[in-house]
Amino acid sequence: MEFLPEGLQEYVEDHSEPESDLLQQINRETHLHVLKPRMLSGHLQGRVLSMLSHMIKPKYILEIGTYTGYAALSMAEGMQPHGKLITIDNNEELSVRSKKYFELSNHSDQIEMLVGNAIDVIPTLKERWDLVFIDADKENYANYFDQVIDQVNTGGFIIADNVLWSGKVFDKNKQDKATESIKGFNEKMHTDSRVQNVLFPIRDGLMILRKI
Ligand SMILES: C[S@@+](CC[C@H](N)C(=O)[O-])C[C@H]1O[C@@H](n2cnc3c(N)ncnc32)[C@H](O)[C@@H]1O
Repeated sequence: MEFLPEGLQEYVEDHSEPESDLLQQINRETHLHVLKPRMLSGHLQGRVLSMLSHMIKPKYILEIGTYTGYAALSMAEGMQPHGKLITIDNNEELSVRSKKYFELSNHSDQIEMLVGNAIDVIPTLKERWDLVFIDADKENYANYFDQVIDQVNTGGFIIADNVLWSGKVFDKNKQDKATESIKGFNEKMHTDSRVQNVLFPIRDGLMILRKI
């Protein structure tokens, strides 16, 4: 599913800040050499994440689901000078590529990439987060939220990607496990009194949550 009509997507990207040379390289090489390149946040969403990060000015950022590092590097742009971004992925092969990109960036000494199953790795982390980006296996979105919420600072943000799931969340005929999980997550976020929520219809849907 294309998220915006082709001309509109092009217009929006042409009138948003361009990708840096490194992000352009990641975008291009991911499309050439990596399976499922659609998983990469891409130009528009990357600029949105960068803008939100500049607004939040986070000291500690957690990303769940690194892939090739595009979103991590976009969020790192708004991080405080002595801040730290931890990103987790269970795909060891991909981590070689993302670590290479992190090394090429201005934030190489501030980004730590952890390889493992996020559900096992998150409880080992002791940081208090200002920004968390949930973008791994959809079945665990609600579990990831439960794991991190107590470690998010009041006024901190959690952003979850793909909450529209290519429109399957409002299609009554789609009842596969991932779709049901995202629907459950969206309902939970809508009613959880610990967070203020808004569903941004950007790309495949970003659920933006502010801890109250
Ligand atoms: C959508 S991609 C992340 C895209 C990236 N955040 C970006 O925008 O450029 C999802 C990633 O989650 C990882 N993943 C899936 N299940 C996971 C798990 N249980 N633990 C850690 N990572 C997982 C996959 O290997 C994949 O690289």
